[in-house]
Amino acid sequence: MDYKNILLNVTDHIALVTFNRPDKLNALNHETLVELKSVFEKIKSDENIFVVIVTGSGEKAFVAGADISEINKLNMLDGKKFAEFGQEIFSLIEKFEKPVIAAVNGFALGGGCELALSCHIRIASENAKFGQPEVNLGIIPGYGGTQRLTRLINAGRAAEMILTADMIDANEALRIGLVNKVYPQSELQSKAVEIAIKIASKGQQAIKLALKAIKVVDEVSLQEGLNMETSLFALCCGTEDFKEGTQAFLDKRKSNFSNK
Ligand code: COA
Repeated sequence: MDYKNILLNVTDHIALVTFNRPDKLNALNHETLVELKSVFEKIKSDENIFVVIVTGSGEKAFVAGADISEINKLNMLDGKKFAEFGQEIFSLIEKFEKPVIAAVNGFALGGGCELALSCHIRIASENAKFGQPEVNLGIIPGYGGTQRLTRLINAGRAAEMILTADMIDANEALRIGLVNKVYPQSELQSKAVEIAIKIASKGQQAIKLALKAIKVVDEVSLQEGLNMETSLFALCCGTEDFKEGTQAFLDKRKSNFSNK
């Protein structure tokens, strides 16, 4: 599939996915969402890719939300399908077996904020702005924002963002735990790559199983989560990476993971 609105670059086990509609502040139209799904399916089946970075082209926006010119035409039935399709793709990202890093390089509004929320790690540039401005349009977040924002940050703060539609800047996002770090815009992408390289250097079986364990937190009780962790830990002990990682430590050498 050729991509019109998304750029995909793969280097050294890292896929860089860039939303590329800068004249529309990288707003997510249906076509872009279809492409995004296809890009992630492609990355999923590519054993050479270990880590994914998502970002926006231009210096102004990560993603300024779903495309309002398309939202404007929705009726109730279409609205349900619209929300379901976005949620399907963002859940695919949230449950992705390879780590996904959001490098938020500007406006992350509505669907853009929801996209960042579905990623596993979020870093931002100093000019980034986050918000769920949907109530300005007479709608509510439909791509998971009411659920993921409320789970990630303080529930009262999430309610304030959703009900007032106010944007917050990168430093406030850092303060409330919405992003992990803030960098000058010129450094953001290289910092994201730095994190990705670090993750890509580990045994990928452990990375995959760690992600799986982390992601069940929202779905199960503490005891069920602990049971899951036990099973996943046991699985790690059956991998070649486990033998190599522990033996390399004992041999005082750098590990050479086969990712098996
Ligand atoms: N959907 C469709 N088009 C969008 C868009 C969106 N979510 N966000 C921005 N654009 C388009 C604008 O219509 C404009 O297109 P045009 O040049 O053809 O008129 C272009 O992107 C640039 O945006 P503009 O509004 O001129 O930039 P700005 O710097 O003045 O304002 C924002 C930036 C982000 C504050 C403003 O674009 C905005 O509020 N966007 C909508 C955000 C939103 O509500 N998102 C949630 C949608 S559910």
